[in-house]
Amino acid sequence: MPAVAYVNGRYGPIAEAGVSVEDRGFQFADSLYEVVAVLNGRFLDWEKHLWRLRRGLSALFIEGLPSDAALAHIARRLVGLSRYADGLLYIQVSRGAGRRDHPFPADTPATLVLTMRRFDFRQRLPQLETGVPAISVPDQRWARCDLKTTGLLPAVLAKQEARAAGAFEALFVKDGTVTEGGSTNIYMVTADGVIVTHPLSARILPGIARDTLLDLAREAQMKVEERPFTIEEARAAPELFLTSTTAPILPIIRLDGGAVGTGRPGPVTARLGQLAWAEIGRQTGWKP
Ligand code: PDD
Repeated sequence: MPAVAYVNGRYGPIAEAGVSVEDRGFQFADSLYEVVAVLNGRFLDWEKHLWRLRRGLSALFIEGLPSDAALAHIARRLVGLSRYADGLLYIQVSRGAGRRDHPFPADTPATLVLTMRRFDFRQRLPQLETGVPAISVPDQRWARCDLKTTGLLPAVLAKQEARAAGAFEALFVKDGTVTEGGSTNIYMVTADGVIVTHPLSARILPGIARDTLLDLAREAQMKVEERPFTIEEARAAPELFLTSTTAPILPIIRLDGGAVGTGRPGPVTARLGQLAWAEIGRQTGWKP
């Protein structure tokens, strides 16, 4: 079976899967999601994704997600059905289906959807060597960007603008500071080699790749500062880079058309790239 889906207890081809038009995920974006990397048939950072999902569900008062063990069982079965060794596991939990009314419906079970699609992580290795361009856009999102809700319209518009400009990512700028990317966390490297990224707050998603990367950097005795930085600092920085589940680490070599540093990936990002891919290999046994 190629791309597969699980919807509230049923497994099948993605094209045949569906939820009610009254699902609150569809009606209100009253739902949360996770994207988990599957490499060599194994999940990367599974526990961290579960932690973030449960944190979000409790913040939104969405109840009824199966136990961690049951969820892992569903996820493993779906990966097995897909027969893909490398892919992206998508998990979405909504508050369920009910007559359209803003307050929570009574006694409605949550909707649980998982999909597994093929994804080629190998494409990221040449991109790590060449780097990718980015643009900056105003951050027009709501005040709880730490919650991974499916209310992604500002990100959709920002990423479309990036694509139209031939860029890989759009950097959100709020009050003059770079918060994060449309679907990535953003970092700059200062002239003295310090890795700087926006601190955890309601303004950014606590990225799983971010968490892992900062741990790796600190273990390697590299200097890390979690503080807001301005778009001007970013433009003047010798190195910029991004992280996410789908792009564990990529150098940003152009910003709004201007070169970042020398216009080529820098040494700090390259070192972090080695560490990040070594960690992926360690956790999953994945080999390029
Ligand atoms: N996006 N910031 C935003 C706004 C994101 O949407 C994402 C992830 C990240 C990186 O988080 P992580 O390292 O946990 O993937 C940061 C996912 C991949 C997506 O929407 O497809």
